[in-house]
Amino acid sequence: MPPRILLVTGSNSGIGSAIVRNFLEESDHNIVWAGFHHRQDRVQPIADEFPGRCCPVSLDVSVRAAWQQAVSRIVDSAGRLDVLVNNAGVHEDALLGAMSLDSWDRVLATNLDAVFHGCQAVLPQMISQRSGRIINVASLSALLAPVGQTNYAAAKAGVVALTQSLAKETARMGITVNAICPGYIETEALESMPPEKRQSALAQIPMRRFGRPSEVASLVRFLACPDAAYLTGSAIKIDGGIL
Ligand code: NAI
Repeated sequence: MPPRILLVTGSNSGIGSAIVRNFLEESDHNIVWAGFHHRQDRVQPIADEFPGRCCPVSLDVSVRAAWQQAVSRIVDSAGRLDVLVNNAGVHEDALLGAMSLDSWDRVLATNLDAVFHGCQAVLPQMISQRSGRIINVASLSALLAPVGQTNYAAAKAGVVALTQSLAKETARMGITVNAICPGYIETEALESMPPEKRQSALAQIPMRRFGRPSEVASLVRFLACPDAAYLTGSAIKIDGGIL
């Protein structure tokens, strides 16, 4: 059986890094291409720990040409591509009245346009294989939009809608497309939160704790496994019970 080839974007921190590690620990059969933007130094230690099974690949997800290059490199080298995890994302919170057009454009380009580019880049290969898994990391903000996130919530809601529509388009081709909607997950993205905001965020969570990146990674691993074959077009929240 050929190895299973996976591509995870935004692998150099937080949830992305946990997803890469989870797949590498799951099976020797998995070969993970770890997409990074800028900080290769943060992917390299995992690549060194799993020699020959974790391949760092430079990929600015907001640049369409970068997708074509990265996917060609993977397919030329591995001959297939089984799983794409669109994990990279940014948020730049501000009230709409004070939000710059640049901030709107950056957040939409990185969170939403990037998923479009990524899906278009991998689909020809997955269609020719008649198999594939696409897992899009959206956010609880897509389902429960908070104040100050008009750009981010709109982008992530767009990711959920794209997921549902594409799932229908690919359902008869052996390709599933799902989204996950994490609530508050303990990563660098949360570290910038002032202490009083952290406390009020914790108070909203029925489980009274933030999620762990490894818990999100376990859900992603499940969506990529054979047992999840009948799941497509879903948006699964993982939020400690907020919604
Ligand atoms: P993070 O800030 O630690 O990681 C984001 C990753 O995206 C980084 O690796 C960063 O380098 C990468 N990235 C940013 N712009 C990029 C670009 N143009 N090209 C390629 N990579 C780029 O944040 P975290 O928490 O690990 O976020 C991962 C995903 O989970 C994001 O899509 C985020 O929106 C989503 N999420 C996170 C939540 C949280 O509470 N941490 C909650 C809900 C969703």
